[in-house]
Amino acid sequence: MNQIALIAGGIGTFAGIMITVIIWGRTHHGGGSTTALASTLRNEKLKSDILLNAIDDGVMLVDNQGTIQLFNPAASKITGWPISEATGLDYQTVFRLVDDKNVAYTEERSPIHRVFQVRTGLRDNTPYLVSRTNVRLPVSLSVSPLLDGQSGLNGVVVIFRDVSQERGEEQRRAEFISTASHEMRTPVAAIEGYLSLALNEKVSRIDTKAREYIDKAHASTQHLGKLFQDLLTSAKAEDGRLTSHPNVIEMGEFLEKLVEDFRFAAEKKNLILEFIVGSGGIHIDARRGGNKVIRPFYYVYADPDRVREAITNLFDNAIKYTEAGKVSIGITGDEQVVQVRVNDTGPGIPAEDIPHLFQKFYRVDNSVTRTIGGTGLGLFITRKVIELYNGKIWVESTPGKGSTFFINLPRLTSQRADQLKVQEAAKSPLENLSSAGKI
Ligand SMILES: Nc1ncnc2c1ncn2[C@@H]1O[C@H](COP(=O)(O)OP(=O)(O)O)[C@@H](O)[C@H]1O
Ligand SMILES: [Mg+2]
Repeated sequence: MNQIALIAGGIGTFAGIMITVIIWGRTHHGGGSTTALASTLRNEKLKSDILLNAIDDGVMLVDNQGTIQLFNPAASKITGWPISEATGLDYQTVFRLVDDKNVAYTEERSPIHRVFQVRTGLRDNTPYLVSRTNVRLPVSLSVSPLLDGQSGLNGVVVIFRDVSQERGEEQRRAEFISTASHEMRTPVAAIEGYLSLALNEKVSRIDTKAREYIDKAHASTQHLGKLFQDLLTSAKAEDGRLTSHPNVIEMGEFLEKLVEDFRFAAEKKNLILEFIVGSGGIHIDARRGGNKVIRPFYYVYADPDRVREAITNLFDNAIKYTEAGKVSIGITGDEQVVQVRVNDTGPGIPAEDIPHLFQKFYRVDNSVTRTIGGTGLGLFITRKVIELYNGKIWVESTPGKGSTFFINLPRLTSQRADQLKVQEAAKSPLENLSSAGKI
């Protein structure tokens, strides 16, 4: 008696979804066990179908020719392509991605294409999907390779979801934070001003006890003001509203001046402050003031206020977390980059914290951070600023010995710097004022 048998092959498991291809056939081998297997497999297929039909995430299976082999109802809903039409088409026709500036993803940038090349899973939370009716939707997607032991790559599975709602909520949250912190800065500045007046011997007379209390209130108000400022800056950084008026900056001179401003803070904590130029290390002891040295020009193109903010954040941390020893600020570079480093002999940072350090509100949880105040926003803002100028920031640290934060910024050649300076100078005075944010 002919019996229906099933030959099933699990292609792979992706994000918890088992995709099973089932081929129906006829066989003469009978017996109770085959029937059991058949029903098990039938159940498996049912389960897979139920799963694929029920989930909110779009699931798309693309074979190694780039043809869509499977397209679930959620994929159809998100893209606007009916399942029957999408299946069998090239994925590039159905799955059109653009970036936040509405520029279409090139083949090299497409995560699907890249998975075919690198053969490991990739995620991308930044693209927008252009639907069949040309509606742009922010999506988050994960692409996994379908690897087959013998012949290599069989295809890829793409799991994607429409994140419009989350983005809208993020946007509203960021707007709320930026409005709230903006509004709160004004009264805090007024309180700080009046406390300063109370502390000013020329204006007010207070006794020692009151001075002690007001001193503390003044310090806390300053901290609060800084927190609101940082909240405002990070909310802007998150939704790309960080203002930037880039200029040509010669980082050597810029840093030398900045180190001068830092000297007071270092002396207050009895820390040695050093400024090192070049990798060979021309040391300038910043406490004694800089000697004139001959050094190359380290040109970058960035907003000096933003760069100052970034380096000041690193310096503030170095001073804040270091109890004794030295803080060194160094500059060096090669043809491509200008590298600034801030090194300290502080407590260092445990290896497990390093990957999270540049995230919002992240503070290492130890006795040091419990006693020293902070918001955990400094390094997040610093990273956003550096990324704004296509730079990179990272840290190397040995717990117990100290930390070094590195910043790489793309370097301009002297010729390019001169050209840009001429262009700057050619702008009308009014334009220069407005680009400097003065009007
Ligand atoms: N130079 C440093 N030495 C030791 N730990 C540091 C240093 N710089 C940063 N950290 C750690 O990284 C955390 C995040 O830094 P940051 O974003 O500037 O926040 P904050 O200084 O407000 O805590 C700090 O809380 C601290 O735990
Ligand atoms: Mg800080």
